[in-house]
Amino acid sequence: MKRFQDKKWKEEMKITFDYNHMMSEFVGDEGIEWSQLEALEPTLKKASLAMIEKRKAGQMRWRELPYNQEEIVRDILDTASGIKDRFDNFVVLGIGGSALGPIAVQQALNHMFYNELPKEQRGGCPRLYVIDNVDPQRMKELFDIIDVEKTMFNVITKSGSTSETMAQFLIVTRLLKEKMGDSYRDHIIATTDQEKGSLIQIARDEGFKTYYIPEGVGGRFSELSPVGLLAAAVCGIDIEEMLAGAAYMDEIASQPDPYKNPAYMAATLQYLAMKAGKNISVMMPYVDSLKYMADWYAQLWAESLGKRYDLEGNEVFVGQTPVKALGVTDQHSQVQLYTEGPFDKVITFLGVKEYKCKVEIPKGFENHPAVSFLAGHTLNELIHAEQMATEYALLKAKRLNRTITLPEVNPFTIGQLLYFLEVETAFAGELMGIDAFDQPGVEEGKNATYALLGRPGYEEKKEELDSRPKKNSKYIL
Ligand code: PA5
Repeated sequence: MKRFQDKKWKEEMKITFDYNHMMSEFVGDEGIEWSQLEALEPTLKKASLAMIEKRKAGQMRWRELPYNQEEIVRDILDTASGIKDRFDNFVVLGIGGSALGPIAVQQALNHMFYNELPKEQRGGCPRLYVIDNVDPQRMKELFDIIDVEKTMFNVITKSGSTSETMAQFLIVTRLLKEKMGDSYRDHIIATTDQEKGSLIQIARDEGFKTYYIPEGVGGRFSELSPVGLLAAAVCGIDIEEMLAGAAYMDEIASQPDPYKNPAYMAATLQYLAMKAGKNISVMMPYVDSLKYMADWYAQLWAESLGKRYDLEGNEVFVGQTPVKALGVTDQHSQVQLYTEGPFDKVITFLGVKEYKCKVEIPKGFENHPAVSFLAGHTLNELIHAEQMATEYALLKAKRLNRTITLPEVNPFTIGQLLYFLEVETAFAGELMGIDAFDQPGVEEGKNATYALLGRPGYEEKKEELDSRPKKNSKYIL
């Protein structure tokens, strides 16, 4: 029996959501009154019903990912084991939702210096690189450190035509063809939509191994699909446990009653906070391994909730700006602003009960009491104390904050966390009356890029761009 099949272990691994410091009882006038929650109950009921109906109608297919991928998971595990035997590097080419999840999960669940470890200490797994930009230097210098003949490239794009990813794909393809002719195709795996876009056509024509991003699963909700599962499996992460964690959170986060459903409660509090002018959502992990969870969450929250129109087509200009911080590092950079700046933020701490290891602080320099008091403690105690101290400083300054605690960081708790934040985002979208699953605001920039680089069909857009107001040199120094 695997540990995630053991009910007791699962309960021990349940992540918790503590919202004490969101409430006026603790932070005074800035906080949320219990009566505000009660007054919102009809809206909450409606939103909760909409979540059930939309799921039933297949409008939230990402919610089924913990359940409907048995065969795909088997295939991924098989492929991953073949990759381990043959390759030293696994490179993901993708951007946004096709990259942030793989980065976050790798950082969370593997060794902090994974790529620097010798292969045997990586369990025989390849190094992982996620190239999520088109910065020419980064792209060029990647080839200084990898041997393409020992590298598997996973090109990931849901739309199958994102310029950045396709540009990377063209560069890699040419390089591979130059080095190994026709067998280049054994070095590329395409993860994309089953029908739409150019990549699927190319993949079929060229005979690439292919994984599909299921229909109705948008980029930022796709980490638990082959988008994230393949890279994770290749790097030795237990993807079955991750999916089991997501399924466990699904049970909890499907309860219609927000007082029992932590994801709904989390969204509800953010919604009320937004209404009270808290326009910034800071995510502050006190665990280095969760640092990139804040990046993943930033995209999820920003792209899902930052909307001009509501579902009725009214202009609403809503959203809450996500900010990434890291405890304790950013105590020495941002916390001054959080405690004394404007009352416009909600701070979410991500903490763990047990770190992966314990590090003791040794004795020394006894004649310096400002240093020697640390001796005999552990870094674990120090980081926990600092998290608690920052919570306290924020509470004292009447700043809204909440804490998500993982008993430990493992595939099961990471699956829960991803799923928790996805449901929170979807429910917040319901409360705000917007479509949390589209991203029309990203399209304008994409189309302008196509026009500037001469993509056929974008001639009108090019004309529009050419007639934009010319910049005045008076404003350039
Ligand atoms: O969440 C989204 O849909 C987007 O952020 C996409 O992930 C991002 O734009 C990349 O798109 P694609 O996967 O189609 O290349």
